[in-house]
Amino acid sequence: MPLVGSLVTGASSGIGAVYAERLAARGHDLLLVARDGQGLQALANELQARHGVSVEVLTADLVEAADLARVEKRLRDDHRIAVVVNNAGIALHGTLAEVTAQQIDAVVALNIVAVTRLASIPSLPQAADWQAYIKARDALGPNLSRSSAAARYK
Ligand SMILES: NC(=O)c1ccc[n+]([C@@H]2O[C@H](COP(=O)([O-])OP(=O)(O)OC[C@H]3O[C@@H](n4cnc5c(N)ncnc54)[C@H](OP(=O)(O)O)[C@@H]3O)[C@@H](O)[C@H]2O)c1
Repeated sequence: MPLVGSLVTGASSGIGAVYAERLAARGHDLLLVARDGQGLQALANELQARHGVSVEVLTADLVEAADLARVEKRLRDDHRIAVVVNNAGIALHGTLAEVTAQQIDAVVALNIVAVTRLASIPSLPQAADWQAYIKARDALGPNLSRSSAAARYK
């Protein structure tokens, strides 16, 4: 029986896929989240075969309110999840003057709103006891980074 379950956002490629692999190698059951359901399922099959852990796929576009709410609900309801790797994110290419309002909205929705909402689930263990690796801490600004919510950004 694995010791712990972990949710990894943006697990379909890049750094998130590496986190998923490393956590599976340590015996974590996994819930993988991203938009590319096929890519996630291929990774899930591979990790299950290689490491003998249970890996589930939750296809979601975290920019979409309904999808984000589904992931939040799962985090709230599934008390096996003790580690959140809040990795999904995108970058803006070009200066702020060159990007569109839609691109800015997408970055804020994914890199700030979704990251913060998924780090704010009350049923998760206290910040001292769990690890959420998130990349948006600096983007949250000095006020939030001093708040109690920021204690969850570990
Ligand atoms: N690589 C770097 O040098 C670097 C440097 C600083 C910070 N970071 C941050 O580290 C994180 C991972 O970077 P990476 O290089 O591994 O990026 P990546 O290869 O582009 O992977 C990004 C992941 O996020 C997922 N994603 C993107 N939009 C999403 C959405 N709307 N809803 C759900 N999932 C979404 C993608 O999956 P789908 O397309 O399947 O949804 C993918 O799995 C990102 O947050 C990035 O901003 C990276």
